[in-house]
Amino acid sequence: MQDCDVLILGAGAAGLFCGIEAARRGRRVVILDHAQAPGEKIRISGGGRCNFTNLHTTPERFVSENPRFAASALGRYRPADFLARVERAGIAWHEKTLGQLFCDGSARQIVTMLTDDLRAAGAELRLGVSIGAVRQAAGFVVETSEGSFRAASLVVATGGKSIPKMGATGLGYRIAEAFGLALTETRPGLVPLTLAEQDLARTAPLAGVAVPARVRFGRQGFDEAVLFTHRGLSGPAILQISSYWREGESITIDLLPGTDLGALLRGQRASAGKVALHNALARHLPERLAAFAVAEAGLSGRLADQGNAALDRLVAQVQGWTLRPVGSEGYRTAEVTLGGVSTAALEARTLQARAVPGLFFIGEVVDVTGWLGGYNFQWAWSSGWAAGQVA
Ligand code: FDA
Repeated sequence: MQDCDVLILGAGAAGLFCGIEAARRGRRVVILDHAQAPGEKIRISGGGRCNFTNLHTTPERFVSENPRFAASALGRYRPADFLARVERAGIAWHEKTLGQLFCDGSARQIVTMLTDDLRAAGAELRLGVSIGAVRQAAGFVVETSEGSFRAASLVVATGGKSIPKMGATGLGYRIAEAFGLALTETRPGLVPLTLAEQDLARTAPLAGVAVPARVRFGRQGFDEAVLFTHRGLSGPAILQISSYWREGESITIDLLPGTDLGALLRGQRASAGKVALHNALARHLPERLAAFAVAEAGLSGRLADQGNAALDRLVAQVQGWTLRPVGSEGYRTAEVTLGGVSTAALEARTLQARAVPGLFFIGEVVDVTGWLGGYNFQWAWSSGWAAGQVA
């Protein structure tokens, strides 16, 4: 039996950060992971540059059955706190857009910063370890391929189900269930949406086109780029809305947000009406998209030949395009897993299970999922930090 004070399952963003904090308090910390390297998702994140936080982090930018739950941890360990650490480590960074902070160099710098801090704090990292049964017996006992570990505190930081190829498993959910903790429904988030065959047949010529747009589902809307693909829709605006969209429902796309297209077209009709309608529209949209929208609206011919009702139809097509995706690309490509260990089962301040003292859940395994743009790492740091103060 190998004894320690804090046993952390998962050497991802949340587990590493929690391990540093707990070890700095003088706790004997062991982190176990079945992967051969720590922080693999950090390494591939943000296109290899790691979007490590977002300056505009607020609880409203997280999806959860109880969005207020995240406020405590996010408020106690803030983006500025993590940024200060990045600067102390001498890692150059920049704001790309919308408060999203990235490394100038490589995401590996963040992994190195965390593993250096972990080593300096005296925590032990054990990789390539398979985790078996977990039970309570004078603390928590975890059976592994490297023998049994016993600890007073057990921190589950095994992430979600996204990208199984990179080692994602449902282990954290199984542990929660075994201890009687409630789970909320899990589904892929921040994921491209797929279209039905008949829609794809029409949108096929658009594959590769990207445009700034406003995508809406219900009351939620995002102003970012949409990318048309061979399977359906992608780009940041689509990934964002995918975390809200529900199967069987439609989304609405405004391909010219903030533009009075009707007024523009009527003006063009008066001044230069001889031009073909799709060419008139191509002044505002990529050519392929303009031709598509005109065909979808059932129109053809010159701009001058269109009545107001026809122009209204075109405007509705371009600025209120309603589409019903058939599904998503699933966990294979999803950046995150929505849902997870119910926030009702956890203390917001510590991430400790209310009914099982000493058992903690942090990071993506919890039913707290951020928007695209660095929010998910901030949740990993904040929740890891909060648990690390008490575990
Ligand atoms: P994480 O998944 O990082 O770590 C879990 C760890 O547990 C892994 O090391 C895994 O091997 C281990 N584990 C799982 N099951 C196990 C088992 N059965 N036995 C032993 N170990 C087990 N977010 C963001 O804010 N900015 C960004 O730029 C990006 N970019 C990005 C790109 C891509 C391609 C993806 C897939 C995701 C992102 N994300 C992101 C999301 C971000 O990566 C994610 O939210 C965090 O990594 C979650 O941190 P966790 O520590 O909770 O889980």
